Amino acid sequence: MLAVTSGRLATLPELRDRVELVEAGIDNLPFGHEGFDAVCCHGVLMYLDTPREALARLAEQVAPGGVLSVLAKNRRAIGVREALTGDYESAHRLIASGTDRSPGNLGLETRGDTPEALDELAAGHGLTPLAWQGVRIFHDHLDDTWTPGRAAYEAAFELEWAASWRSPYRDLGHLVHTLARRPERSRP
Ligand SMILES: C[S@@+](CC[C@H](N)C(=O)[O-])C[C@H]1O[C@@H](n2cnc3c(N)ncnc32)[C@H](O)[C@@H]1O
Repeated sequence: MLAVTSGRLATLPELRDRVELVEAGIDNLPFGHEGFDAVCCHGVLMYLDTPREALARLAEQVAPGGVLSVLAKNRRAIGVREALTGDYESAHRLIASGTDRSPGNLGLETRGDTPEALDELAAGHGLTPLAWQGVRIFHDHLDDTWTPGRAAYEAAFELEWAASWRSPYRDLGHLVHTLARRPERSRP
């Protein structure tokens, strides 16, 4: 991921001097406690056995007035992708067992979280949860063979965005996006 990012940055002169890439484990972030205006953890929690420690480490990096943005696999939608792609046996097994794990994009089994659990963890570290969104609700089961034209893509995007804020649609998104803000003048 760092190599890919480095390659992309090399083609973006307006950005490359403003970005610093650092390799570190989520439980060992080398940033001290100075605080960032935005801390994003996208597509990582699903590889961890529990989000608890990671959320604690991330929350302490959020400055007063800053936000924590987390994109995680949606525990409630486990099995939905399999059902929509016609793999009914796997979908049935996943849904009937109530598991919080299913095969992920990289061929690894990954773990889901609920937005409520993520919000509760963030609140436990002094952050105020904001509205959560479902992500990839209607289009997650489509692969690279789905190549819509620009108008169809934009219509699909607008549909996903509108549904992302609303239950019951957002509850079935493959991913959940939670946001939480640290109140001004409050330190971890
Ligand atoms: C699916 S990629 C997401 C990359 C990027 N955040 C994005 O949204 O495109 C998952 C990333 O999680 C990282 N990762 C997994 N476990 C981690 C851990 N314990 N600490 C830090 N990073 C981890 C992997 O190295 C990989 O770069």
